Amino acid sequence: MGVDIHSHLIPGIDDGVSDAPSSARYIRSLNELGIEKFICTPHVFTEIYPNTPDTIGAAAWELKAELKRQAVDVQVSAAAEYMLDPDFNSILEEGKLLCLGGTYVLVEMSYQVETPKVERYIFDLYIKGYKPVLAHPERYVYYHNNYQQYRRLRDRGCLLQLNLLSLAGYYGKAVRQVALSLLKEGLIDLVGTDLHHERHLQQLQEFVKSGSAGRILRGYSFRNKELFM
Ligand SMILES: [Fe+2]
Repeated sequence: MGVDIHSHLIPGIDDGVSDAPSSARYIRSLNELGIEKFICTPHVFTEIYPNTPDTIGAAAWELKAELKRQAVDVQVSAAAEYMLDPDFNSILEEGKLLCLGGTYVLVEMSYQVETPKVERYIFDLYIKGYKPVLAHPERYVYYHNNYQQYRRLRDRGCLLQLNLLSLAGYYGKAVRQVALSLLKEGLIDLVGTDLHHERHLQQLQEFVKSGSAGRILRGYSFRNKELFM
């Protein structure tokens, strides 16, 4: 994997890690599992987490200072995970999107209902020169019986990013099953930790150290390093 392109390790600005010392500790532990670079992606969800490049930049600076204090020598940068909702239109209009690297933009939908006209958002991103990456497709239960929709989004240029914790069974059996199927069908382009807190870290450590991660992921390749290293 090399690069983690999805995490909530920038402290204090969303439902992720709350303080910089904990973030630095988690990053050190993830680095020990083999992740060399972190592109952190706080939520930008106007209703609940109205983050902007300024709020994200300031908190990222705080994290980098803490990493330096703790002598954790890894590459850390900031992007965002954008909720696809009507508020996203104005963010897109302003054209101040934080990209994962190049022009790739991480987006998500609600877990309860599909974003109405999601394909329109994907199209709008595309015509503005961005490349959308849909976070955790396996967690949208309303797609579980509609694999055609995964293919349709991908055919329209949207990359799909799987959460490693889904394969570990963290979000339940159904999500794990869909995660495995998406892998087998060759629909997954990228992987990420989507790490928010201590429990996520512990599950990931167990998943890797038990050998399960190696067994499940052997034979698959992802584009994390190619696109973002
Ligand atoms: Fe996330």
